[in-house]
Amino acid sequence: MSVAVYFGIKCFVVVALLRGFLAETLKEPLQNSTGSKRDGKVLSLFQIVQFQNDPCSTGATRNGTCYTQGECESRGGSSLGSCANGFGVCCAFTLSCGGMSSENCTYLVQTSTTTAINPCKYTICPCDKHICRLRFDFTNFNINGPVTASAISDVDLSAATTLGGAIGDCTTDTFTITAPGNFAPPLICGFNSGQHMIVDACPEKCNEVNFGLTGSGTRNWDIKVTQYACGDELGGPDGCLQYFTGTTGTVASFNFPTTAASLETTTTHLSNQCQNMCWRQEMNTCGICWIPEILGTDDVTGSFGISTTSGGNKARGETDGKCRGDYLLIPNAQSNVETSDQDTFTIGSIGSDVRLSDRLCGRQFSSANDNGDRRMSRSVCTQQRPFRMTFKTDEDEVTQSPATGAPPNSAPTNELNRVPGGIVGFNLRWTLQACT
Ligand SMILES: *[C@@H]1O[C@H](CO)[C@@H](O)[C@H](O)[C@H]1NC(C)=O
Ligand SMILES: *[C@@H]1O[C@H](CO)[C@@H](O)[C@H](O)[C@H]1NC(C)=O
Ligand SMILES: *[C@@H]1O[C@H](CO)[C@@H](O)[C@H](O)[C@H]1NC(C)=O
Repeated sequence: MSVAVYFGIKCFVVVALLRGFLAETLKEPLQNSTGSKRDGKVLSLFQIVQFQNDPCSTGATRNGTCYTQGECESRGGSSLGSCANGFGVCCAFTLSCGGMSSENCTYLVQTSTTTAINPCKYTICPCDKHICRLRFDFTNFNINGPVTASAISDVDLSAATTLGGAIGDCTTDTFTITAPGNFAPPLICGFNSGQHMIVDACPEKCNEVNFGLTGSGTRNWDIKVTQYACGDELGGPDGCLQYFTGTTGTVASFNFPTTAASLETTTTHLSNQCQNMCWRQEMNTCGICWIPEILGTDDVTGSFGISTTSGGNKARGETDGKCRGDYLLIPNAQSNVETSDQDTFTIGSIGSDVRLSDRLCGRQFSSANDNGDRRMSRSVCTQQRPFRMTFKTDEDEVTQSPATGAPPNSAPTNELNRVPGGIVGFNLRWTLQACT
């Protein structure tokens, strides 16, 4: 609660001056307008204006919290303009490496740099004792990416078999967020603009955000940190690293080139991921479907490719037992293969040729029962609620030489064998489905 003072009914912006004068008179800061006897005399001359320290937006590139001018300065913020009918200023908090903040709506900003800053640490502390969740929105996020590889079709890959352990590892730049007493999010690197992470906050403990930049490269980032009180639905359900609201949008693995119109065969997901994604069940929705933003074909990389595929020399989708190291977990996933590849899912139906699956991987996004029908990405849906999906990867990619006697382009033992490769990750459009 901030306090400003004005003279009678004239809304003079002499707030700061008067406030100083009053504090001097009362020998303590004013916090409350109910007024003890001691305040009485002063209150007959001045009226006290109180306002909540609410989030504010002035149309500037950043948002802030409404404070008095004096409070904003003493808290290390900068004014974006006025709020609370001119009695306060919309105060923005921007940190550079080494900074610390306990303000809701704090920005972590690094303009383009080639300096290997290691570590670059930010400390985020709860703004009050009822904070349970911290949301980090990556408005811009560009640091060096992981070790990549190239998927190729129809050639003998025996030369490429030594990379497997390193592919997807963040060997130059890293980003982590700590979550004291709770599960920490996975370590990431690369391009992550538009992504977000929500982590648990712990009362009286601070969360650390760490960039480790080594080697060369140009990096920049701009991350908005929002604090949510316990029980605030916008903080997302427990255990959710990402939380989506609305009826449609996209969801991607970290380091996915979500802004590219077409994909390189070197598109590479990260190692050791555990990405829990959760969706709000909006009014009158009973299901959710996902489909790759870019549909892959045989030989063209689409926005789905995870792990090996058992289908000889054809790139196809795999489910359940075939998905061990890396996979997407979608409880009771089903594709509707009888229609087209678009969203044509009917709530309450389980079409023919559909396999109810929990794990999906392979080179096409499909849980069709028939092998032929798995050679094309499909809309995959679930009616299981709450709507959730998990992306899990282990530390290695599988890049063994083809088994003796196997055709050189057989994909079961090598994720780089065939395009789309099994190193891609995912970028899927999701759409909630109306109840019938
Ligand atoms: C002012 O203080 C009193 C007692 O300390 C409290 O009951 C009241 O809610 C406060 N009023 C405001 C507007 O904060
Ligand atoms: C500021 O807040 C408004 C809502 O009040 C939101 O639409 C906008 O995206 C926010 N801008 C930034 C830079 O966070
Ligand atoms: C922090 O600001 C967001 C809006 O940007 C708001 O929804 C949230 O309730 C605020 N958190 C607290 C603890 O006030």
